[in-house]
Amino acid sequence: KKEIKIGLLGCGTVGSGVYKILEQNAESIANKSGAKLVVKKVLVKDKNEPLAVDVDKNLLTENFEDVINDDEIEIIIEVIGGVNPAKDFVLRSLESGRSVISANKELIAKHGEEILATADENSVDFYFEASVGGGIPIISPLKESLAGNKITKVMGIVNGTTNYILTKMDQEGAEFDQVLKKAQELGYAEADPTSDIEGYDAAYKLAILASIAFESRVNIEDVYMEGITKITKEDITYAKELGYKIKLLAIGKQNDGVELRVHPTLLPQEHPIAKVDDVFNAIFIEGDAIGEAMFYGPGAGQMPTGSAIVGDVIAAARNINFGAQGRIACTCFTQKEIKDRSE
Ligand code: NDP
Ligand code: HSE
Repeated sequence: KKEIKIGLLGCGTVGSGVYKILEQNAESIANKSGAKLVVKKVLVKDKNEPLAVDVDKNLLTENFEDVINDDEIEIIIEVIGGVNPAKDFVLRSLESGRSVISANKELIAKHGEEILATADENSVDFYFEASVGGGIPIISPLKESLAGNKITKVMGIVNGTTNYILTKMDQEGAEFDQVLKKAQELGYAEADPTSDIEGYDAAYKLAILASIAFESRVNIEDVYMEGITKITKEDITYAKELGYKIKLLAIGKQNDGVELRVHPTLLPQEHPIAKVDDVFNAIFIEGDAIGEAMFYGPGAGQMPTGSAIVGDVIAAARNINFGAQGRIACTCFTQKEIKDRSE
């Protein structure tokens, strides 16, 4: 069976999840991709630091040049986070003809236009399902199944860490700092959790969603942003007494213009989004044809995020197999066609 080799940039929470899924579901993934997917190199900062997954030491490198200069590698997964050096790694990977998968919402919200144009110019794929909603499929439904709609609203909980904090403060009377620490231990928070608690992470995600949903390039500066650092246990208790819950919402509306904001919001307790607790996310879409639809699931964490990335890797591998890179995420091939291609 044909093999497609992968370069994995970063092996922290998400990278280790990706590696685990590729190992544990290797056979089923190969059947769906039409090729055995093999991690050939793993970029880490320090080869001597322990990893959260058992990776063959021979795969590890501290130098990106070892990955980009390995001609066998056809797909590169970027899960180091941040803008630098991730942007340079992603652009160089695309320019060298590799398909790239990334979970990096900051990079995509700030430089998505340039990255997508580079993918286009080089006829390769750039997929980023994991950048919004963790394990929840939302980018691909917006680009594909819902593409026939004029979308008027995208709204919801898009940050798992802050929802986890608000939930624990509400249900267990926990202290903000302690729950944030727990969210970091669980692998939900960003490397710098300021991004979560001050609302940046949700704003990046809203900019990505709105760019796709509203067919317009949204700049991160266009998003009004307020995080949850000023929310106290007393605020949560008073809200509860009045029949409300406090949730950090990302709200995007398109009417005459586009309105984009992230801020804590009082929601009636019976509202479906008020019932979304812990690390879960929920994204509510309003379109002129579908009406209202809600996407719900785990919004962060090693395996759910790994799930979204591996789904993208399979789509990219299928496209490599069919010579269809840069055109479409080929979800349309039958299992027989995939099998025939792989032989
Ligand atoms: P981690 O900090 O756990 O993992 C990133 C890893 O990359 C770390 O091991 C880090 O090393 C390493 N790294 C950073 N820079 C370099 C470099 N230049 N060369 C080699 N290795 C490097 O982060 P996550 O796995 O949580 O997140 C990764 C990406 O996925 C981010 O963009 C994040 O926003 C996104 N994401 C995360 C989710 C989650 O639930 N955690 C969910 C959805 C998206 P070191 O620790 O030594 O700095
Ligand atoms: N830090 C992010 C969150 C990870 O808590 O939602 C998922 O994107």
